[in-house]
Amino acid sequence: MDTHREVLAGLLLVLAMTAILNVPASAIKLPPYVTACSRSDPKLNECVLQNGRNAIPIVIKGDPKYRVPKLNPMVIPELQLQQGTGSVGLNITWKNAEIHGIKDTEFLDVDMNVEKRHIKMHFFLPKVSITGAYTATGRVLLLPVTGSGPSNITVENMKISYDIDWNLVKKANGKEYLDVTNPMLTLLDLGHLSMKFERIFNGDKLLGDNLNTFLNENWKDLAKEFGPGVADAIGQVFGLVLKNICDLVPYDNVLKP
Ligand SMILES: *[C@@H]1O[C@H](CO)[C@@H](O)[C@H](O)[C@H]1NC(C)=O
Ligand SMILES: *[C@@H]1O[C@H](CO)[C@@H](O)[C@H](O)[C@H]1NC(C)=O
Repeated sequence: MDTHREVLAGLLLVLAMTAILNVPASAIKLPPYVTACSRSDPKLNECVLQNGRNAIPIVIKGDPKYRVPKLNPMVIPELQLQQGTGSVGLNITWKNAEIHGIKDTEFLDVDMNVEKRHIKMHFFLPKVSITGAYTATGRVLLLPVTGSGPSNITVENMKISYDIDWNLVKKANGKEYLDVTNPMLTLLDLGHLSMKFERIFNGDKLLGDNLNTFLNENWKDLAKEFGPGVADAIGQVFGLVLKNICDLVPYDNVLKP
């Protein structure tokens, strides 16, 4: 079954987030549940870590005023995995995929470099599941795959680092705003991966069960492909929250002088 290892190699995750952001830019201060730290505070990292930890449980509930979508679960209108290597090709699309488990994100540490305009953060996520109705088309060796049904990809004990840079951009109101650039998410560790695709092979139970068994028995190899994909989805969620808040709140209110 070694060739099957290629089945899910080279997966590309494309996130399409639409219909989330639709609120006029009026808010000026950080949300009341986020305390601004001072960029001249010698203990800036501790301040950001503490305030970040306090904010996570509230932020995940969503806040339309700051264009933060509900994150527990977060619904992604369309999620795609595309794969193609040699004799194997699969396209998997989810409609209204749900990402569960972001609420349990642990903010481990942060390293802010105000001069270099760089932030490095580490997070631990005990369990994240991407669930929803999938449609798959393609081929596994000589077997055509067409299937659709419920699915669940779950990763456990994931540790990630998240790096961002920022520029300062002056807006028409004369105030400077943070423009978050180069978000980079790195998957550092992943404890376990499990997957279930129901009714794959168009409902052929034997083939479907075999494929699902295979996927789970080979989770370590598949984690190399799926892990970064799931981590990337989470990174995009983090990026979205940051960007939306920084688009609305001036730099001096995010990081006091
Ligand atoms: C996957 O989808 C892309 C774009 O929709 C298409 O070009 C490609 O042929 C598809 N591959 C398979 C294996 O179905
Ligand atoms: C997805 O699978 C995980 C691990 O098996 C399970 O804990 C979780 O409840 C499942 N989620 C849904 C929505 O079925």
